Amino acid sequence: MSKKVFIETYGCQMNVSDSERMATILAKEGFQIVEDEREADIVLLNTCSVREKAENKIYARVGQIRRRRRNVILGISGCVAQLEGEELFDRFSGKNSIDFIIGTRATDRIAKVINSVIREGKTKVIDNHEREDYPELSFDLNLSHSKCVAFLPIIEGCNKFCTYCIVPFSRGREVSFPPRLILQQARQLVSQNVKEIHLIGQNVNSYRPREMQDLEKFKGATPFSKLLRMVAELSGCERIKFTTSFPRDFHPDIVSAIEEYDNLCNWVHLPVQSGSDRVLKLMRRGHTKDAYMKRVERIKSSKKMIALTTDIIVGFPGETEQDFMQTVELVEQCEFHHAYIFKYSPRPGTPAAEQMTDSVPPEEKTRRFLYLESIQKKIQAKIWQSYVGSEKLVLVEGKSKKNPNQLTGHTTCNKVVNFEGDERLVGQIVKVKILEAKNNSFLGRLV
Ligand code: 5AD
Ligand code: SF4
Repeated sequence: MSKKVFIETYGCQMNVSDSERMATILAKEGFQIVEDEREADIVLLNTCSVREKAENKIYARVGQIRRRRRNVILGISGCVAQLEGEELFDRFSGKNSIDFIIGTRATDRIAKVINSVIREGKTKVIDNHEREDYPELSFDLNLSHSKCVAFLPIIEGCNKFCTYCIVPFSRGREVSFPPRLILQQARQLVSQNVKEIHLIGQNVNSYRPREMQDLEKFKGATPFSKLLRMVAELSGCERIKFTTSFPRDFHPDIVSAIEEYDNLCNWVHLPVQSGSDRVLKLMRRGHTKDAYMKRVERIKSSKKMIALTTDIIVGFPGETEQDFMQTVELVEQCEFHHAYIFKYSPRPGTPAAEQMTDSVPPEEKTRRFLYLESIQKKIQAKIWQSYVGSEKLVLVEGKSKKNPNQLTGHTTCNKVVNFEGDERLVGQIVKVKILEAKNNSFLGRLV
């Protein structure tokens, strides 16, 4: 009988994508992927370590699984696995032991690792080595997070080394995948009726493949904007989104590409992190507030209405009230459609954690977080309110989780819209009239 594997995913879209591709490899090797942890012979936790909270969740979760299922085979992949490596075997010992560890660049070898545990009876198996080749980009849509929206990694890793960030350590140096492989996978997705492709990577606009000749025939000021045009020209590809963009490498030609192609969606996620030049320098972001604002002006002055979203960290080491107020001011100026706000969390091994004092007390971080959130909420409410009465194209992605009578999907500007409708509409792009703006979604009516 085939062994059953349950995969639980934490963190960003890259992790979701890695899980989808690991599930595909395992299914090909004869494993059965299950959605209920209780049925599983093997549990794989695909982990995130971007903030301390995310990492702590994993430690609690291992204990919980072991209490419930003493004999299940338990493995850890993702960022925590890559960072901690073998030390995880010591951390989880005795009653809470784990059986295997698979690093962020070893995902293609997941079946081999699990087989050495179950077939060869090995204990404590670890593979956290480099890739042997580019990763396999294809995956089985039946094992993915959606049948009509697909994540397609174009670059992995990060060379930026922002001082607070663990990603360069957990995901390694930047590697851009060959345009040929990306196009091949995009074609396959379109032929399988996928309506929306998300080109993903920690810094998509740092895309710089070795195989530049494949992009020569496409217009564009940077390899990434050439790649965008390459995918946009693929016939039948209805929607393309991309995330995340790094401000310093965000060339205005990206906006030009969005303007040229209807299928390049009107949404840009451009994390600013802070509105203070002093803090930006301490973060080693490589951009000033003014440089960021220039990018924003190009996005906002586009003839296409482009929704801008961002990430912000409050309470970075040494952030004064004055620095913080500069972030507040920037938020007021930029009018983000959404902002993910985080309290600074020291990550072991990063320059900020090792060389700077986590000087902002927790209560003060919370106060800044809540204050900035309240400002953003007001700005956001006004923007979202302006959608009410308009008609938007929505890709129907499934039943709403909160209300099974409703369907849910996204606009091209990446906003969630819930509305009543027949489940047979799933996978189609439909016109919806926006009736009401909620905090982070719209209520609409099928037109
Ligand atoms: N503390 C708090 N937030 C962080 N982020 C990354 N590292 C940290 C950290 N150490 C946030 C950044 C990034 C997002 C994915 O997570 O805002 O853009
Ligand atoms: Fe978390 Fe960053 Fe790893 Fe994604 S890349 S899983 S956000 S630590």
